[in-house]
Amino acid sequence: MTARVMVTGVAGLIGSHLARALLERGHEVVGVDDFSLGREANVEDIRAHPAFHFHRANVIDPRAMEQAAVGATTIIHLAALKIPRYDGYLKTLEVNAKGTEAVLECARREKARVVFASTDDVYGKNPDSSFGEESALVLGDSKVNRWAGAVSKIYGEHLCFAYAESHRVPVSIVRYSGIYGPTYQLSNLSGPQDIFIYAALTDQPMPIHGDGTQTRPFAHVTDAVEATLRVLEAPYAEGEVVNVGAADHLSIVNLAYLVWRLAGARSRPRLRFVSYTDFSRGYEDPRHRRVDTTKADCLLGHRPAMDLMRGMQLQVEWFRQRLDRIRQANVGFSLEDQG
Ligand SMILES: NC(=O)c1ccc[n+]([C@@H]2O[C@H](COP(=O)([O-])OP(=O)(O)OC[C@H]3O[C@@H](n4cnc5c(N)ncnc54)[C@H](O)[C@@H]3O)[C@@H](O)[C@H]2O)c1
Repeated sequence: MTARVMVTGVAGLIGSHLARALLERGHEVVGVDDFSLGREANVEDIRAHPAFHFHRANVIDPRAMEQAAVGATTIIHLAALKIPRYDGYLKTLEVNAKGTEAVLECARREKARVVFASTDDVYGKNPDSSFGEESALVLGDSKVNRWAGAVSKIYGEHLCFAYAESHRVPVSIVRYSGIYGPTYQLSNLSGPQDIFIYAALTDQPMPIHGDGTQTRPFAHVTDAVEATLRVLEAPYAEGEVVNVGAADHLSIVNLAYLVWRLAGARSRPRLRFVSYTDFSRGYEDPRHRRVDTTKADCLLGHRPAMDLMRGMQLQVEWFRQRLDRIRQANVGFSLEDQG
């Protein structure tokens, strides 16, 4: 059955790939984005698709959201601001909290289902060796503004369940981990994979936060999209929280070595270590983050298909072929701003 799916944050990494996949499955897609982080180039190939309707709007604007959501059967809420590593403390809280409120109000009005994009950052400083969906969410000091992203996502998760209880809005929560894949956006908030690829292809030092021995999960966007579609299609995913991503885990410094080799650089890897003291006040970076995706496997029948070596190889080639276009889409971007 075709659905009218509203995707907020459609010009971002996950949103643009998800919109493409929904259109391929015959759904109608209403995309919302304000281009604050996403890029027009990410959606240029689908802008003219007859089943794609784009609204340039801020998700915290209730009236604009109300108009965009008319007739929506499902809303996938991806639009959000990231961990305030440098600045943007108040804006992160505002966009992430008010945006989710606006989306849930639209869902209540339209009787639409909601899939809310949360993050593995909600596990925060939990010292367990691996995080399942039931693991404790352990955040740091409120004076450390870096936790604002996770706090706003936890608030969003609760708000979803509260709307489910009080207004019978069907909700599912997806906690993404380390998703990478083709995207034209490059900023000081980009994931390390894109920053390293850009550095290697332009023969610049790769900025490493801390000492680089911290480990992180990585998963290709095609797997994130597939898992999200399964959440959308599975009636039993309603009311559930599911970890999505984490196909592989690697230390940041090993990721840098991998990228450097795949980029075909002839010199030794050039690394530039950036101290956490260069970030926002009291910045904290969890040492290890290992996310358990068994639930996605059991409940949704989803297992990540793309391994990191292959995924990164594709990502390096994608970047290499579009380097000029990526530069054009990110005027003013400089690796010097990375800490
Ligand atoms: N990519 C990951 O590894 C990852 C990990 C954990 C959680 N997530 C979550 O998944 C979602 C999508 O992530 P992504 O990697 O595609 O991020 P992204 O930054 O690529 O995309 C987010 C999009 O939202 C848009 N946006 C931001 N504020 C907006 C506003 N006020 N109004 C309208 N649009 C706005 C941006 O312009 C951007 O296009 C986010 O909610 C993010 O927190 C992603």
